[in-house]
Amino acid sequence: MYSEHLDLATLQTLLRTEELGRTVSANEVWQEIDSTNARALALAQEGAPHGTIVAARSQTAGRGRQGRQWVSPLDSGLYISFILRPTIALPHIPLISLCSGAAVAVAIHRCCGISIGLKWVNDIVFAGKKLGGILAEMPDRNSVIVGIGINLRTDPNLLASPELRDKVISIEDITGSPINANQLAADLALELERCYGNLIAGHRTRIIDEWVEHNVTIGKVVQARQTNETIEGTAIGIGLDGSLVVRTASGERSLHAGEVSIRLADGSYC
Ligand code: BTN
Repeated sequence: MYSEHLDLATLQTLLRTEELGRTVSANEVWQEIDSTNARALALAQEGAPHGTIVAARSQTAGRGRQGRQWVSPLDSGLYISFILRPTIALPHIPLISLCSGAAVAVAIHRCCGISIGLKWVNDIVFAGKKLGGILAEMPDRNSVIVGIGINLRTDPNLLASPELRDKVISIEDITGSPINANQLAADLALELERCYGNLIAGHRTRIIDEWVEHNVTIGKVVQARQTNETIEGTAIGIGLDGSLVVRTASGERSLHAGEVSIRLADGSYC
């Protein structure tokens, strides 16, 4: 049976995981919430178990990276957060971002049949437009919240804004058919569990290789705004700590945080 919109009962029946989402009583799916990440952070502080899923059909204060807002109209996107309780050394925590990106790429391919691109570190893109994003937050040493937003259909109100219209895309724009949000959420949980399992097992190069397989950043000229400078050069790889290695005129630099813009054929950056 195919439920039109995200709902807890349908999601639970579709889950094929061993751990993520398996404490059934802990999972939540909201019709509307401020932010699934904010709710997951609160639940984590109250002791919610590893793998708890918090999802919503809409968010009134969805959080994007760099303090931006994540516009989250009803049923236009998949808005989902996972509470992870990492048992790995602190320096390896940033690799959770790469695990999440690889998981999103594989899940979207399986569920929707399309190949997305990963732009370091957590942008999900298709044809140069933003299809989604990942916000990983670490409130304390024992929890990481992985928040994933994927545009399922383009809200007509967004099309009224030329600025967003040219920059965002949805799965429905690409495939021309409606998406089963519950199936995508279940596939995401399964893939995140698999990729995260690689991290726990110490297979860091496997995670990096998988992220690289789906990436659109390496080999490109990139620009990165850091606190006190702008770094420009060619992205040449991913370090074992998840950093982006850039060859600049003055040598190799490793970027650990922030965002990169990729230079296009016309010399502009996106
Ligand atoms: C980005 O800026 O690219 C990251 C966007 C992450 C949005 C998701 S939607 C589900 C989760 N809850 C939030 O408030 N944010 C993340």
